[in-house]
Amino acid sequence: MNPPAPRVLLTSPLAADVRTWLPPEVAEVVPVSGRAELEREIATAEGLICLLSDTIDAALLARAPRLRVIGNHAVGFDNVAVAEATRRGIVVCNTPDVLTSATADLTFALLLAAARRLPEAEALVREGGWTGWSPTQLLGADLGGRTLGLIGFGRIAQVVARRARGFDLHVTYHSRTRASAELENYLDATWKPMNELLSESDFVSLHCPLTPETRGLIGAAELARMKRDAFLINTARGACVDEDALAAALEAGHLGGAALDVYSDEPCVPARLLRAPRTLLLPHVGSATRGARARMAELCARGVAAVLAGARPRNVVNPEVFASGGTPAS
Ligand code: DGY
Repeated sequence: MNPPAPRVLLTSPLAADVRTWLPPEVAEVVPVSGRAELEREIATAEGLICLLSDTIDAALLARAPRLRVIGNHAVGFDNVAVAEATRRGIVVCNTPDVLTSATADLTFALLLAAARRLPEAEALVREGGWTGWSPTQLLGADLGGRTLGLIGFGRIAQVVARRARGFDLHVTYHSRTRASAELENYLDATWKPMNELLSESDFVSLHCPLTPETRGLIGAAELARMKRDAFLINTARGACVDEDALAAALEAGHLGGAALDVYSDEPCVPARLLRAPRTLLLPHVGSATRGARARMAELCARGVAAVLAGARPRNVVNPEVFASGGTPAS
């Protein structure tokens, strides 16, 4: 008799059925719901497919003696204790590339909607307040010839830079590591020190991962450096911004507006931000297209299937977990 297939926990239904890549002979896919069930079931699981809203911390991993692979359904992996996973020989996979266009598109949706005051405009129509065309009604911000400052310059920021050319925006960026001259030329993007980027940009858009260094990266001092009519766009991670400081800046009339898709304690949106003027708030939908979400599910499932089969997936965030022979270190 064949040994039972390894158990793979799935913390949420995904946009594609992971059993396509994890059929019964490869894995027993076990849906789990809530932290208590996850903590119980992880004891016998060899794989885990989880969301960015699942906290995969050291305490959970300590309950997972058989766990070999985590497929995190996100490109960001700040919800996973990666160093601890590595110490335990657990491979962590994420979902890069497949959500790049979707998230870059949403960045532009937010930028345009904030610049052109779409939420206010729509409310005016729906609430019956529109009495006719007026030359001075709902005037928004121009884009052409103005400056978009990107903080972080990974895959998503680079596609945002490409999109920006179509809107005649000048693109600057700040990242710890400067891109090659070829890439800067190709994207027509100029590296700037952070303070210059903040003070010169008309639109500042965040594209950095959440790390100890980027937590609270945009606080009161950084917001004060921004132009009085500049916009802040965040499709990265909420905790990169001090939300209270942002609400204060908006209340004080300091910024042109803020357009946010992410928050530091999702799904809680700080009450002060909900009340703040010129603020557009979305429920973390950066990657929410049918195609992106289906490909994210596929990438998670393929990563888990590869590790269970003793192979090395492409999308590993802790490659050091592999010994030189290509198998997990422990
Ligand atoms: C990610 O993948 O990190 C995104 O935030 C998901 O939408």
